[in-house]
Amino acid sequence: MRIDVITIFPEYLAPLGVSLIGKAADRGLLEVRTHDLRSWTHDVHRTVDDTPYGGGPGMVMKPEPWGEALDAVIADVAPESPELLPTLVVPTPSGRPFTQAKAAQLAESPWLIFACGRYEGIDRRVIDAAVERMPVEELSIGDYVLAGGEVAVLVMVEAIGRLLPGVLGNAESVRDDSFAAGAMESLLEGPAYTKPAEWRGRAVPEILTSGNHGAIARWRRDQAFARTAAHRPELLARLDPAALDKKDRIALAALGWHIEGDRLVPDRAAEDKAPDGRAPDDFADQPPA
Ligand code: ADE
Repeated sequence: MRIDVITIFPEYLAPLGVSLIGKAADRGLLEVRTHDLRSWTHDVHRTVDDTPYGGGPGMVMKPEPWGEALDAVIADVAPESPELLPTLVVPTPSGRPFTQAKAAQLAESPWLIFACGRYEGIDRRVIDAAVERMPVEELSIGDYVLAGGEVAVLVMVEAIGRLLPGVLGNAESVRDDSFAAGAMESLLEGPAYTKPAEWRGRAVPEILTSGNHGAIARWRRDQAFARTAAHRPELLARLDPAALDKKDRIALAALGWHIEGDRLVPDRAAEDKAPDGRAPDDFADQPPA
């Protein structure tokens, strides 16, 4: 996969050269190119922002450097081969949620360009013009506002990069991740333990040392249900009851969830027990991407 990142702070992307993603790049599984947006400015101050039309606080990124930057990065694509154009990813708090499913979808793409906005964002016309040339995804990594898109790019590239074939040593570990498509789609992964078997008087759960792989898989799934019920109950409501086996239903019943029609719903008692009656948090109402 090729990844281009356009930013006014190329040094912010340095972490992509270390650890898992850095090693994947060293092994040729991934190529990351960072570009300084200011190289496409033409004034002495290398200006990338200006005051917003309509007034208001903050500054908006000017369209001209962005237009030239995108033209330059995709310049090698022949007009007769538009299918070779990359997907443009624009991190923004007003984007659609960046989820594990979105990471998996983007991991299928051979080429991504990330456009890092700063200040109040990029002049809208840049995105509107890009949409006419290539696929564009405006994505948010959570319901909070960062100072710019760079940190969001680090998050997204790591989540996407670890899904690329060959990047992780053990491809199976992806399958058991929280949110992984399939059995873990709407579940959080439970706890993990390593040696020693006893540490500061605390023993590892006995089942994990039993060697009984079926029982261990069952225990892990029950732990996933328990953690999801405690931390992200709104995810349980998204589980498809048809995909639950009898033992799943028993585990969920013990946590105060039952099936009503084609939905999983909390028992009244469980609703009463909800921590402080708060609405489920981040992305609770978002449809899966
Ligand atoms: N830029 C600023 N805040 C952001 C967020 N939450 N997600 C993605 N990009 C952002």
